[in-house]
Amino acid sequence: MKGVILAGGTGSRLYPLTKVTNKHLLPVYDKPMICYPLEKLIGAGIEEIMIVSGRGHVGHFLELLGSGSELGVSITYEIQEGAGGIAEALGLARKWAGTDSVAVVLGDNIFEDDFREDIESFDRGAKVFLKEVPDPQRFGVAEVNGSRILSIEEKPQAPKSNLAVTGLYLYDARVFEIIRTLKPSGRGELEITDVNNAYVRNGEMQYSVLSGFWSDAGTFDSLMRASVMVQRYRMKQAESAERQ
Ligand code: DAU
Repeated sequence: MKGVILAGGTGSRLYPLTKVTNKHLLPVYDKPMICYPLEKLIGAGIEEIMIVSGRGHVGHFLELLGSGSELGVSITYEIQEGAGGIAEALGLARKWAGTDSVAVVLGDNIFEDDFREDIESFDRGAKVFLKEVPDPQRFGVAEVNGSRILSIEEKPQAPKSNLAVTGLYLYDARVFEIIRTLKPSGRGELEITDVNNAYVRNGEMQYSVLSGFWSDAGTFDSLMRASVMVQRYRMKQAESAERQ
């Protein structure tokens, strides 16, 4: 399986922090934001990774991460010219991914859980990772029944559950055919939720619910929360290392 990190978009919700730099280069506690999704993929055993970013700051990603050799992986870069949506950004990885499955992670998502087993056991179809949240209307929201997802709604005003669809997605290579069929949503973007609902309709969408912390970092409050979560986690780790 290959890994794709989506780090395009405008970062407009974080303006003026994003006036002269890219959202995914802003600090989350002690590292640039992009390092978290990157380390998640590497920790899950993925060795070939593509970073899709906007035109403005692609050189900065390159300076920060280079070829990936220092991290023991190979990093490829692709440019999304506009901000036509998460699914558009993923579509740019089509040729590079070939017939391989992809683990796709949003560049502003910070996860505690480990995904190695999910990634190693992934075979076909798609898988999403859900998290109970107090403010589901900010996210894609899944309606589930037992082991099945019935539907996913993007930022619903009246959410059918409190289960947010987090920004890690596992897809087989058919995802690129699905993206080709998409039409822009009301906000003018190719939506990842439409991709996910195509798998839901085919009965090929699996899910699991995360137990560790998760946050996006795309607004002032969530950026702050992500930093605090990481700081607490590091303190816990340091305390348990001291006890041993
Ligand atoms: O964080 C999880 C949520 O992310 C999901 O629950 C939603 O279903 C999903 O649509 C998404 O919602 P957001 O509105 O928070 O996405 P946002 O526009 O902030 O984009 C998230 C990341 O995706 C961003 O950090 C970079 C990447 N992206 C986004 C756009 C719009 C791109 O690479 N290209 C793009 O054109």
